[in-house]
Amino acid sequence: MKAVQVGSPVTLDTLKLVDLPDPGQPNAGEIRVRIHANSLNFHDYAVVKGMIPTAQNRIPMADGAGVVEAVGAGVTAFKTGDHVVSCFFPFWENGPPPIADFSTTPGDGVDGYAREAVVLPAHWFTRAPNGYSHAEAATLTTAGLTAWRALVVDGQLKAGETVLLLGTGGVSIFALQMAKAMGASVIATSSSDAKLAKLRALGADHTINYKTNPEWGGAVLELTGGRGVDHVVEVGGPGTLPQSITACKIGGHIALIGVLTGRGGQVPTAALMAKHQRLQGLIVGSRHEQLEMIRALETTGIKPVIDSTFELANLADAFRHEEAGAHFGKICVSI
Ligand SMILES: NC(=O)c1ccc[n+]([C@@H]2O[C@H](COP(=O)([O-])OP(=O)(O)OC[C@H]3O[C@@H](n4cnc5c(N)ncnc54)[C@H](OP(=O)(O)O)[C@@H]3O)[C@@H](O)[C@H]2O)c1
Repeated sequence: MKAVQVGSPVTLDTLKLVDLPDPGQPNAGEIRVRIHANSLNFHDYAVVKGMIPTAQNRIPMADGAGVVEAVGAGVTAFKTGDHVVSCFFPFWENGPPPIADFSTTPGDGVDGYAREAVVLPAHWFTRAPNGYSHAEAATLTTAGLTAWRALVVDGQLKAGETVLLLGTGGVSIFALQMAKAMGASVIATSSSDAKLAKLRALGADHTINYKTNPEWGGAVLELTGGRGVDHVVEVGGPGTLPQSITACKIGGHIALIGVLTGRGGQVPTAALMAKHQRLQGLIVGSRHEQLEMIRALETTGIKPVIDSTFELANLADAFRHEEAGAHFGKICVSI
């Protein structure tokens, strides 16, 4: 079985294509899945760049989608031939989050899906949406479910509300599609005017270039008549949070998701407090939330925006493409 593992030291240049023993047949409660696609996330990038520590020879990639090849005794949720997609937290089935780290996350704390086949407990997967390709399904594990959790689960998004999205990464574009499908208005930012045009084509009501307009929080306030937005999907972190607080309405909700500008820093706590805002940190979501999202994607007809697809052997090139920042939407891997 072909797989990709991190090398030593962990860098893009040491990522290696290897032959590993076939995982065999499933035991009771397990399924065997032929993995056909991955999608890339910033978190996977942090693993393969050595920015966060991981085990020797770790197989990266949290997002995996493919076909069930065999089911073990007692498995009723799946049958041979079903299309499935992996879960970011394999042991978080439902209810409030039970975990605050990546120790069980495939591609970080445990081996991920940059490989041809896996045998794992059935609850590590959900069904994939009807009509989705494997690459499309693979975009849901991390980016799709994070956007869903931010807006729908934590944000309780309602038609008529306004959502602010930062940049054109995988999470932000999913959030744009979901917000529009649910009847919200969207203000979206990017460093690139060409990408802003693509955001408008996808339905963004207003766009702002955050590079040429560093006070974009004030620009958002103006666009909302001084009121501010109901929700911010905050993928930037410390470098963007002050502007997000400015842009958000009194009593609004900021979903703190990303670390694109760093892992710690100064937060204008007095402004946050004075505006009665709710700053909610989150990491992805539960298996149950993934199933609810999949039902919504089927109902609304949302299809993920895929920028490009690379072969497994060229996984390092896929990450170099992400690193270059020219992508719009998800970068995928075909296996
Ligand atoms: N908490 C969670 O559960 C969770 C889940 C998924 C992702 N994340 C985090 O969310 C962030 C985005 O992840 P992703 O996978 O969507 O990344 P990605 O696909 O690699 O997207 C990166 C994009 O972010 C935008 N960006 C970079 N710096 C920015 C800034 N200062 N202000 C506004 N936008 C900026 C850029 O958009 P433009 O090119 O348009 O400028 C860039 O293309 C990462 O920090 C990631 O770790 C967290």
